[in-house]
Amino acid sequence: MALLISYHDRDTAPWVEAFRAELPQMDIRVYPDVGNPAEIEYAALWQHPQGDLQNYPNLKAILSFGAGVEHIVSDPLLPKAVPVVRLVDGAVVQDMALHALHWVLHFHRGYHQYARQQRQGQWQPRPAISPARRRIGIMGMGQIGQALAKLLHGLGFVVTGWGIDPTDVAQGIGYRCGSHELEAFLAETDILINALPLTPATAGLIGEAELARLPNGAFVISESRGGIIDETALLTALQRDHLDAAALDVFAVEPLPQHSALWTSPDVFVTPHIGGINYPETAAVVMAENIRRVQRGEAPTPLYDALKGY
Ligand code: GLV
Repeated sequence: MALLISYHDRDTAPWVEAFRAELPQMDIRVYPDVGNPAEIEYAALWQHPQGDLQNYPNLKAILSFGAGVEHIVSDPLLPKAVPVVRLVDGAVVQDMALHALHWVLHFHRGYHQYARQQRQGQWQPRPAISPARRRIGIMGMGQIGQALAKLLHGLGFVVTGWGIDPTDVAQGIGYRCGSHELEAFLAETDILINALPLTPATAGLIGEAELARLPNGAFVISESRGGIIDETALLTALQRDHLDAAALDVFAVEPLPQHSALWTSPDVFVTPHIGGINYPETAAVVMAENIRRVQRGEAPTPLYDALKGY
């Protein structure tokens, strides 16, 4: 019985240690030192080499190192009968909420403008509005979107979520649902936050026409996945001053290619997909519990749902 860790571009030593502590009976292997492929029953993955999973005939569960699983389910040779488990770790959810909060406050108070003014030696208080007049629109009201909505609502912002399906939201938070409500949602959003999973239904969802619905001077924060907001349309809307600024942590192609104009746009803040940090000491506990569930014959959770696409 072995767990294979395949974590692209990361130091796996802390993960091996954390999994060993949680699963003392488990043989832990790190890709590419797989050993006998028939012994691999569990695979914990982040951007694994495509096609590799078909080498393990006794695989019982595939565990994502992230909440998003498109990096797994896009593998054309994914073994169809093996459950794919998303990672929902409270520590990451909290990090993602704090990441978005940082940029909301940054834009709401105009700190990006004050940074510019400082470079010009300009002492000039700018017009400001209260949180009660700032409308935040969160696309994607899963665990991350809901946590963020509560946080921002608690700070006095006007918060509305948008999602593909109906969902319950906490009191005081608005919710609009479905493509027919997207336009109205965007029209009343001063700061748009992308917390959607990347699925066939969300890929390319926000293009030129959708960005044009946002009020003049709106801001965009994207922290879940690239490929949902069209990057070229976003740059154009910024250059035309329809939008004020954008903070992007995720991109259609990662790492963001050197030639991308997003790097040098004065209105774009680029971070390298660091919104949610994966801590071995919390994430390995959640993932190990899912492995124990499979061992007990129970379903791991949350499972990737092919119909929903996430
Ligand atoms: C990270 O990007 C995740 O999917 O949790």
